[in-house]
Amino acid sequence: MNYSAIRNLAICVWSVLAFVLTTVAANSEPGNVEQGEAVYIKRCLQCHGDEGDGLGPAAEFLNPPPRDFTLGLFKFKTTAFDEDLPNDEDLLRMIRDGMPGTAMPGWSDMLSEQDMIDVVAYIKTFAELEGEPESQLDYGTQVKTSDESIAAGKILFEEGDRCTECHGVEGKGNAIKKLKNDNGERTWPRNLTKPWTFRAGNDPKKIFARVSTGIPTTQMPSFSDPKSSKKLSIEERWHVANYVASLAKVENVVNPENFVIQADRLESGLPTSPDDKAWKDAPSSTFIMVPQIVGKQRFFLTANDTISARALYDDKKIAIYLEWDDRTKSIPGDAKAASIADENLSEDAVAIQFPLTIPEGMEKPYFLMGDSTNPVSLWRWSSGTSEQPETGTIIDAKGIGDQQPRDDSGDLSIASSYLNGTWRVVMTRLLTTETPENDLQFEEGRFVPVAFFAWDGSNSEAGTAHAMTTWYWLQLKPAADSKPLIYAIIAALLVGAMLFWWARGAQSRNKVNA
Ligand code: HEC
Ligand code: HEC
Repeated sequence: MNYSAIRNLAICVWSVLAFVLTTVAANSEPGNVEQGEAVYIKRCLQCHGDEGDGLGPAAEFLNPPPRDFTLGLFKFKTTAFDEDLPNDEDLLRMIRDGMPGTAMPGWSDMLSEQDMIDVVAYIKTFAELEGEPESQLDYGTQVKTSDESIAAGKILFEEGDRCTECHGVEGKGNAIKKLKNDNGERTWPRNLTKPWTFRAGNDPKKIFARVSTGIPTTQMPSFSDPKSSKKLSIEERWHVANYVASLAKVENVVNPENFVIQADRLESGLPTSPDDKAWKDAPSSTFIMVPQIVGKQRFFLTANDTISARALYDDKKIAIYLEWDDRTKSIPGDAKAASIADENLSEDAVAIQFPLTIPEGMEKPYFLMGDSTNPVSLWRWSSGTSEQPETGTIIDAKGIGDQQPRDDSGDLSIASSYLNGTWRVVMTRLLTTETPENDLQFEEGRFVPVAFFAWDGSNSEAGTAHAMTTWYWLQLKPAADSKPLIYAIIAALLVGAMLFWWARGAQSRNKVNA
């Protein structure tokens, strides 16, 4: 191809490109307020309200509540911290992707880009937001993540209680004090180890923006505000952002494909304390918990969202280890707990639900505490009060309205520990009991349905107000299982080795023969 042919081709490509670009530009006109209103009425009104004041019919069930657009204040923006106006792109991003951990859904599957641009133009009219933002967030030069940067970020995070004041030493958002938003509603600092709950993304650039602008209308402050005694330079904010990104949990993360807790068999000596090192080697399964909204006294605003379970057994007993992040250690009667809690402080609690018999097929009792023909039993641990130690109780249940705690919980034993926003509880019971008509009898190899319930006593959770999982499975893995596998591997290795020596031998035999 000669020079002019290349030039003609380039002109040709350029004209096509220019055509495409102009059509795209023509398609994404600035938002059309009228069309935006139509989108709003159809999709946004039920939460944000017809006046844009956040008081739609669904709002009373939601925490955090839907944004009141009449205030013109947005939480997640990339304009400078003292600039009230967000960029249109900031609002578009929240509408497109939604806000994890809140009821605000992402709309990219349902609305076209132009619909979203139109609705942005419309929601800005509620507070008569006009004109362009004047000052943008200064990102400076990004400091790439590294061990050094993360270490520097950790120091800044803790120095003078800068972030730990609200987010706790390990960043789990365990409450040290009561926080409220500008509306007087209770808010919680984010659990920074659960990046999937970040409203506006958890890559260092997004975290940098949060640390720089703060989260308007909440107590999360701006650390670029020159008036702040705890302010950070651009470089320091990058270190903090890299540190926060490094806190993301890698263990105890929900894997939607995992339905089975595998209990390993130990020869003897089950760990009874949650601190025992033996738990480290037991496989962990993490499940989502949702609010109990089926039975009477529905409760929408539960605080605990996931629970992790491990199990071990020996020839006599089974021990189940539960771990969940709970921002508050709820001990009624304790002054510190009371200062953080909502009005009705009760004990933290957790329960493991089993059917009374191992089902033959996939049939399981009703997931919410069984029913009259398929009762369940619950092993329940409660954190205790300032006067009474923790307790373990077995509850026989035939539905949420029919729960009978036993006076005698047999050999059920419990142990717990609370540290930096995490409860860890171990419950142990005999595999088989003397009252098989009342208790599940565990059997090696069989799959047993299991479900979990949790109460955060500082969040007014008691009785039927709690978080819960659906049914999962627990399997007591037969110890014999692993032996044939090991023998199979050894046999394969032996065969491989023999073939190798035989081949070497054959080679040298051939050499001798040659
Ligand atoms: C099911 C309820 C629900 C619906 C439907 C809903 N939202 Fe929201 N929206 C929320 C909640 C809750 C929040 C507040 C989240 C928070 O404060 O962290 C919110 C926040 C927002 C924000 C604020 C973002 C910020 O940075 O402060 C915008 C913008 C928004 N919604 C736009 C929309 C638009 C546009 C629609 C319709 C296409 C819509 N929402 C539909 C519940 C909803
Ligand atoms: C005075 C209390 C307070 C302090 C100090 C504080 N935060 Fe926060 N932080 C909050 C609250 C409250 C929220 C949740 C706001 C909401 O409701 O959306 C939050 C949310 C966050 C989020 C979540 C962003 C998202 O997209 O969801 C990050 C990240 C964060 N803080 C990091 C930090 C870092 C890093 C520091 C220290 C440099 C810090 N915070 C200091 C109270 C605080």
